Amino acid sequence: MALFIVCIALAPAIGFGQFVHNPIGASVAVSETRVPANSTFDVSVDFELDAGVHLYKDRISLKWEKLEGVEHVGNVFPTGRMIRDEWGFGPDDSGMIEVYEGSVRVAARMRSAGKEGDRITILGKLSFAGCSDEICYPPGTLPIELNLITAAALTGRDTGCETAILRNTSMGTIIDGKRIAEAIIAELKTEVASLTEKVGRSPGLGVILVGDDPASKVYVRNKRRACDELNIFSEEHILQDDVPEETLRKRIEELNDDGRIDGILLQLPLPPHLDEDAMVSLIDPAKDVDGFHKLNLGRLLCGKELFVACTPLGIQQLLLRSGVEIEGKHVVIVGRSNIVGKPLAALLMQKKTGANATVTVCHSRTRNLGEMTRTADILVAAMRSPQTITADMVKPGAVVIDVGINRIPDQSRKRGYRLVGDVDFDAVKDVASKITPVPGGVGPMTIAMLMSNTVRSFKMRNGIEP
Ligand SMILES: NC(=O)c1ccc[n+]([C@@H]2O[C@H](COP(=O)([O-])OP(=O)(O)OC[C@H]3O[C@@H](n4cnc5c(N)ncnc54)[C@H](OP(=O)(O)O)[C@@H]3O)[C@@H](O)[C@H]2O)c1
Repeated sequence: MALFIVCIALAPAIGFGQFVHNPIGASVAVSETRVPANSTFDVSVDFELDAGVHLYKDRISLKWEKLEGVEHVGNVFPTGRMIRDEWGFGPDDSGMIEVYEGSVRVAARMRSAGKEGDRITILGKLSFAGCSDEICYPPGTLPIELNLITAAALTGRDTGCETAILRNTSMGTIIDGKRIAEAIIAELKTEVASLTEKVGRSPGLGVILVGDDPASKVYVRNKRRACDELNIFSEEHILQDDVPEETLRKRIEELNDDGRIDGILLQLPLPPHLDEDAMVSLIDPAKDVDGFHKLNLGRLLCGKELFVACTPLGIQQLLLRSGVEIEGKHVVIVGRSNIVGKPLAALLMQKKTGANATVTVCHSRTRNLGEMTRTADILVAAMRSPQTITADMVKPGAVVIDVGINRIPDQSRKRGYRLVGDVDFDAVKDVASKITPVPGGVGPMTIAMLMSNTVRSFKMRNGIEP
């Protein structure tokens, strides 16, 4: 009997990129979302613990809350190194797993029912807690929501456990950008505190806002709040709507020379009399934390990035931290702007960990858009066109990232409108294996990545490895 493995992996001991690592942070990766009909597969949990980190037997459990299209047929004894070999399962044999300590994999064996194309839902909850010799980590819980599809046959390769190295990942059909962004902010907060102590000053962000566009004001306010939360020094420069270009130019140059400022953000759009392109080009590329300077866009294309635009960087983090494997996947991006579509394509096609995708970019002149989008394993909509990606344009099981933020009239709301994405969320969520909501998906990540880029700049400017 063939055995296919769907893997939920905990990698509490391994950091990712520039982010601070929580030694007991849980992470989730699903290596395969298609399992053959009428066959047995394992939902497995990997514990990779740092030496000296203990997971307590009584505090680790994996419980199933809902099993649809699948039957739990038993538990699989653990494999790997264990310090003790006393294993127990819950009183009702419902998938409770108990772990003492060590580097181990345990699994619950499932049997898929039905026919090709049926959906399997596995809902559960992982709870864990542990200690090192020095400290006890706060207990963690992780909702587990596996949405699988039964297929006639897999591609033949053993799906194995291609574990993404991630932490604090949310899991489920809905990719919770707010929660992931909060986790990143929490990580950065710890890092900013220790960097501030080391360097003797905190990182600094200079924000320039021209005019009083209400949306821009909201964005600037949110950025200030994030800086306050992280104890990052922030300085706002509010200029009149009709400010002469020369005044703006001088202000940018002052910030370039200001030793307290590590990142400069010029809030766009600018009023029409100002040349956006020329103004962005004045920002010192080494302080261009928005990643919009041509030098930074070019560096990204060459795989030598200094600062990557915040929205694309946030999308990559959303995918990685949700356990979505990018490597080898076909990513279709609808939208070719310089701030989302193009840099995201450049980012995900790089020959690097967390990338290595095959990328297709579509736009308003693309013929048969639906035919293109249906080939996507990961579909990104950045079109500025409300609810345009419909369910029939999405391959079952695809991951859908909705970048769009559009206002549509809604008289049931006090303010007379509501925000929607470029994706018809209600219909597409039933087809996709994972999807970002609007609001609460990509949006919060953009600010988190701005903070991350500012910290990165601070480190580089102070000779600290980013
Ligand atoms: N969440 C965030 O933090 C965040 C950040 C940035 C942007 N956004 C949102 O993301 C969306 C995209 O932003 P952007 O600045 O990249 O937009 P943009 O500059 O207006 O670009 C839109 C792109 O979508 C393409 N497009 C428009 N309608 C299309 C259609 N029906 N079929 C195929 N392609 C179509 C356009 O094609 P052409 O090139 O042929 O015109 C263009 O490439 C906006 O809603 C924006 O508000 C969100």
